[in-house]
Amino acid sequence: MGITYFNNSKTFKLDTKKSTYMIAIVDKEQFIGHVYYGKRIEDEEMSYLLRIYEPPYIPTENNRDRCSFYDTFPTEYSTHGIGDYRDSALKLRSEDGHTASRLQYVSHDISKGKEGLKGLPATFGDDSSCMTLSITCEDVFTGIEVVLSYSVFEEEDVITRDVKIINNTDKTIMIEKAYSCCQDFDGVDYDLITLHGSWARERHVQRSPLSLGKQGVNSVRGESSHQEHPFMALCAREATEDFGDVYGFSFVYSGNFNAQAEGTQFNCTRLLMGINPEEFNWLLKSGEQFQTPEVVMTYSSEGIGQMTRNFHNIYRRHLIRSKYRDQKRPILINNWEATYFDFNKEKLVSIAKQASELGIEMLVMDDGWFGNRFDDNRALGDWFVNEDKIEGGLKSLVDEVNALGMKFGIWFEPEMISPESKLYEEHPDWAIQIEGKPMTLSRNQYVLDIGREEVREYIYNRVKDILTSANIEYVKWDMNRQLTNLGSRVLNSQQMGELSHRYVLGVYEMMERLVTDFPDLLLENCSGGGARFDAGMLYYSPQIWCSDNTDAIERLEIQRGTAMVYPLSTMSAHVSDCPNHATGRVTPFKTRGHVALAGTFGYELDVTKISKEDRDMIPEQVEMYHQYARLIQSGDYYRIANVADTKYYDCYEVVAADKSEALVTYVIVTNLANSHSRRIRLKGLQEDALYAWEGTDLVMTGAAYMNAGILIQQMWGDYQSTLIHLVRQ
Ligand code: GLA
Repeated sequence: MGITYFNNSKTFKLDTKKSTYMIAIVDKEQFIGHVYYGKRIEDEEMSYLLRIYEPPYIPTENNRDRCSFYDTFPTEYSTHGIGDYRDSALKLRSEDGHTASRLQYVSHDISKGKEGLKGLPATFGDDSSCMTLSITCEDVFTGIEVVLSYSVFEEEDVITRDVKIINNTDKTIMIEKAYSCCQDFDGVDYDLITLHGSWARERHVQRSPLSLGKQGVNSVRGESSHQEHPFMALCAREATEDFGDVYGFSFVYSGNFNAQAEGTQFNCTRLLMGINPEEFNWLLKSGEQFQTPEVVMTYSSEGIGQMTRNFHNIYRRHLIRSKYRDQKRPILINNWEATYFDFNKEKLVSIAKQASELGIEMLVMDDGWFGNRFDDNRALGDWFVNEDKIEGGLKSLVDEVNALGMKFGIWFEPEMISPESKLYEEHPDWAIQIEGKPMTLSRNQYVLDIGREEVREYIYNRVKDILTSANIEYVKWDMNRQLTNLGSRVLNSQQMGELSHRYVLGVYEMMERLVTDFPDLLLENCSGGGARFDAGMLYYSPQIWCSDNTDAIERLEIQRGTAMVYPLSTMSAHVSDCPNHATGRVTPFKTRGHVALAGTFGYELDVTKISKEDRDMIPEQVEMYHQYARLIQSGDYYRIANVADTKYYDCYEVVAADKSEALVTYVIVTNLANSHSRRIRLKGLQEDALYAWEGTDLVMTGAAYMNAGILIQQMWGDYQSTLIHLVRQ
C-alpha cells in the first residue's frame, strides 16, 4: 500500500485501495517513464510496457533514432525542443534564447504525509492519510532542477501531482510553460467528459469521443470561468455511471488553465493539465523556485459515478478547511433577487423579521450597501457604509437582525473598481490597464491589480474594518468581470506575462488572511454566479454560489455538472421567486425547495411579497432541510437519470456513508400523457438490509430496490417533484 520503490527494477509503485500508478527509471540516461495507471495490480515490474526494446529502441542501443524515441516514449513529464513533438509540459527559455530541455532522474524521496504548496491552495493530509513521492530531475540543457511530486491518498483512490522548478544555476530562466500534470495513455479509444457553459448556464456536461489531434478546455479570462472548467475525464467508450474505466483530473486553481488531450500518431493519448501557457511566463532568477498548482487525479474501474464520489471524498476530507465543513450551514435569505439595489434598513429588517418567524436563520445583505452604489455602474472600491440607506449604520442594522434571532452576512466585491468611485479618483493606476491605452469596461467596472501588495493591503483593510464593525458571520465574496488589457505598473516588460498568475496568488493571499483573521466566518465565493466554482476556492470557502440562474429546472443540469466534481455541500442553491428572473419559467414552490435541497439551502426572494401559499410552505421546507442536511452533506451521491438523456425527468440519490438511509429526488421536467408509473432502480444500498420507504407501507431489501426498483406514480403537470426517503430497518 502507499508508495514503494523497487531498487532492482528502479520502479515506483503508487497504490491506492483500488488503483495502481507506476513509474520507472530506465536506461543510463535516466529517462522517467510512465508505465501504468489503472486498476490495482500487485506486480512490481512492468516496464515492458514502455516498449523500449521495440524499434526505435532506447537511444543508447540505437542513437540513430533518438528523435523517434523521444516522440513516442511514454514520459512522466515531457519537455520541449528535443524531438518529442507531442505537446510538452515544460518549456524553459534560457538567457541566450534557447528552449530545449531534457529531464534526467537524479534522486527521489518517499515520505509520509504531504507538505502544503506555498501560496497556493492544495489538498492536505497527515501521516496516516497519505504518502508523498518526490522525484528530483535535472534539465541537462539548463541545469535547472525539476521536482515531480505525487501524493497518494489510499482511502480516496486519489493521487495528486505538482511540480516545482528550482533555479540553482547562476543564470536567469524564463518559464514559458509549466504544466502540473502530463499523463500518457495507450490508445485513443476514450471519451472525453468536460464541462461547458456561460453566465447563468454553468457547467453543462459534454461527453464526446476523443480523436486524433488536440482537444480540450481552457480559460484565458483570469478566472476558471463560466465558459469552460478546470476538469477533464477520460473514460472508456463503453463506460457508464456504474461500469468501466474512468480517469478524472481536477485542477486546484482559480485562474487561467489548460486541459488538453492529444491523440497522437501511434494511437496514444497525452493529457496535459496546468496553468494556461497563453498569457503566462515567469522570470525565475538564480536561487528562486516556481511552484505549479496541484492536479488531483482519480481512477475508477466502476464508472463515472465512482469517479465523482472519489472527488467528493477527497475534497470533503482533504481540501476544505473551514470549520463549517461538517456543520449544518445556516439557512440564509439573500436580498439580491428580492430588492436588487432598491433597499434600505427598514426593508431589510422587515424581510428579516418575516424570515425569522418562518425559521430562516441568516439575512445576507447583497450588493448596494456602500458608497454611492445605487446601481451597478459605480462605487466599487468605496467600501464605506452608505448611511442614507443603512440608517444608523451597519452595527445598528446587524444588532436589530441579531435581536430577531438571525445571523447577519454581507456581500463584497473586493477585486474590483468602478471608474466612478472615490478609489478610482485617488488611484486610477490601481486598475489593471495598459498605460495610456483604451481600457475595456465590463459591467462598467475595471479589475484591481491584486498582484500589487499596496492594493491588496488597502482593500483587505477596508473589508476587515467593515467586518470588525459589527457581528458579521458570513461573507459572500464576488467577482463580476474577467480580466483584459493586461498591464501592471509594477511589472517590467520581462515580467508582464506574470500578471494573471500574480493576480490569482494575490486573491489567495487575501482570502488566506481573511480566514486566518476571522476563523469563525462562513465564507462563500461567487463570481457573476458560478464563474469561479473551482477546487482552488474550496480551500478558502466551504461553499460557492453555483449560478445566478435559480430556475429549478435549469439548475438540474447546472448542479449535475457541478456535482460531477464537487460535493453537494459546496453548492449554494436557493429557492427564488417566479416567474424566474433568469428564465421567466414558473415552477412549483415545492419543486424549487426540492432542487435547492441538493446544495446549501437558502432563499433569494422578498418573503414579505410572495404569495401566502408559498410563504406557508417555508416552515415545511425549513424542517425538510434540517432533516436531510447532514445526509446530503456527508452522503454518497448517485446520478440515476438526467433530463438530457431521458427527455422527461431527472433523478438522483444520496445514500448515507453507513448506508442507513437514502434520499431520492425525482423531478418531472415534461409530463408525458397516457404513461405508466415510472420504474426507477436505486443505487448504493446495502443489498441484504431491509429499507422502509417512508410514508408508504413498502419495506424491501436493498437488492430489491436496486435490481427490481420502485414505481413512481404519474404526477399532474410539468415541473412536479417528489422526495423518496428510505430508512434501514
Ligand atoms: C453577481 C452575483 C449575484 C449578486 C450580484 C450583485 O451577479 O452572482 O448573486 O450578488 O453579483 O451585483
